[in-house]
Amino acid sequence: MRGLDLDVYRGEVLGFVGGSGTGKSVLTRTILGLIRKESGRIEIFGSDIDKLSAREHDSVERRIGVMFQQGALFSGLTVKQNVQVPMREHLSLSPRLADELAMLKIKLVGLDLDAADKYPSELSGGMIKRAALARALALDPELLFLDEPTSGLDPIGAAEFDELIATLQKTLGLTVFMVTHDLDSLYSICDRIAALAEGKVIAAGPIEAMLAAEHPWLRAYFHGKRARQFDPSVAERGGGVLAGNELAGLLGG
Ligand SMILES: Nc1ncnc2c1ncn2[C@@H]1O[C@H](COP(=O)(O)OP(=O)(O)OP(=O)(O)O)[C@@H](O)[C@H]1O
Ligand SMILES: [Mg+2]
Repeated sequence: MRGLDLDVYRGEVLGFVGGSGTGKSVLTRTILGLIRKESGRIEIFGSDIDKLSAREHDSVERRIGVMFQQGALFSGLTVKQNVQVPMREHLSLSPRLADELAMLKIKLVGLDLDAADKYPSELSGGMIKRAALARALALDPELLFLDEPTSGLDPIGAAEFDELIATLQKTLGLTVFMVTHDLDSLYSICDRIAALAEGKVIAAGPIEAMLAAEHPWLRAYFHGKRARQFDPSVAERGGGVLAGNELAGLLGG
């Protein structure tokens, strides 16, 4: 990172994009305190994390949920036990209450209840994503970090997952920081998008602003071959896959 500056606003879904290996996961892990930064300042809920006491740090941690890029479930624990890890760490619940709560989270993310007693190796990729999301939601977080939540899902599964995140975000009033390469997610559920390149946030704003941006990387990203179907200028000329009104729908207009 070189002079990176980024704000995430309360209640928004921020999509964080950038080329592979540019440091999206590293930044996420640094914000979470899993990697130590060399310099700079990180504020969460308005507090500089370097200035928090251990107790304050713990209470900030309790308000945050994380879904790692590879799911990062504990392979020796069942889905239910995985969901209970943050509960064990931060709450003192009776086993019965912890079971009930875990089952609630498992239901919330759309997993069958019989998945609760399965081990990660017995789950499909999509189920691992949902289980990891259930664990991220274990403590009813206000702020949710998602690292490529839809990568590796089929298009229908990815759309369902987007819808799930959007629903949870609205009903639970979450703030979501979402690293993603998924253009559909960027269009359908992100309020703003921030792009990382050359160690900096080169642009941040709603999708319309990103589409209009001049930066070569942004042009390649949002107007490249795989993005063309969303390009309004192409749609206007009638050459796009989407009609103008469908595009407006996608853009929430
Ligand atoms: N703990 C670490 N310490 C130092 N360097 C790391 C660490 N983890 C990853 N890196 C390096 O930092 C760079 C950025 O990695 P990162 O995983 O953040 O990329 P990314 O933007 O998330 O990419 P992708 O889209 O492929 O997931 C890579 O060169 C990687 O090898
Ligand atoms: Mg990554």
